[in-house]
Amino acid sequence: MTLALDPRLIAALLEWQAELGADECIGDAGVDRFAASAPPAPAAVAPLAQAAAPVAPMAAADPVAEAQALAARAGTLAELAALQAAYPHCELRKGARNFVFSDGNPAARVMLLGEAPGDNEDRQGKPFVGPAGQLLDRMLAAIGLDRAAPDPARAVYIANVLPWRPPGNRDPEPAEVAMMLPFVRRHIELVGPRVLVLMGNHACQAILGQRGITRLRGQWSEAMGLPVLPMLHPAYLLRNPYAKRDAWADLLELQERLEAT
Ligand code: URA
Repeated sequence: MTLALDPRLIAALLEWQAELGADECIGDAGVDRFAASAPPAPAAVAPLAQAAAPVAPMAAADPVAEAQALAARAGTLAELAALQAAYPHCELRKGARNFVFSDGNPAARVMLLGEAPGDNEDRQGKPFVGPAGQLLDRMLAAIGLDRAAPDPARAVYIANVLPWRPPGNRDPEPAEVAMMLPFVRRHIELVGPRVLVLMGNHACQAILGQRGITRLRGQWSEAMGLPVLPMLHPAYLLRNPYAKRDAWADLLELQERLEAT
């Protein structure tokens, strides 16, 4: 039986699959990678007398300690980006199209930290370029800020906790955040903003160790020696437009702090 499928339905199904992270056509038949990469069976077991002396077990690699050592080595943003992009232990890198480091002006007084790239960001290699990013740009413009501004007083600098898109836009896992945190902290140190804005729960959890963005938002706190302002994530605002009133209050709070700085 042949099904006459509506091309619009096919397009919608493909889009849905891509949203879930199934965005590459590999082949019709499945491949058992475990079997393919299994080591060949040993030809013979060596007699006991000839067995090599036991080797001391290698210290297990600690991905977080390695991230800390690498991040500490970076003296510039370009070095940090190169070291983070090459960091091998975060599985997300395998499924991502692009490494998404940052956008905006590193001389800006304001640094914004989001959660992780989505589909648009993954495709373009830049943070906050999809619908949430467009809303963010409009929100910033409302208080005279612009990620493309060359003037540090009007500019912003934007990065995420994770530089690779989690499949299907799932939440970051604690182990992924723990591995990326040393890079994020070094990122903030190297930019050295006057004010850090944390957008959403994941950024608050990473930097402040706290969740509960609807309670935290608009309340200044301090981290890494910087004034920190938690704000609602623009993706949350797209889903909950009534919360834009709170976001507007937070933006005014930010503007007031910048005017006083
Ligand atoms: N949401 C984020 O947290 N970061 C992005 O870059 C895009 C959407």
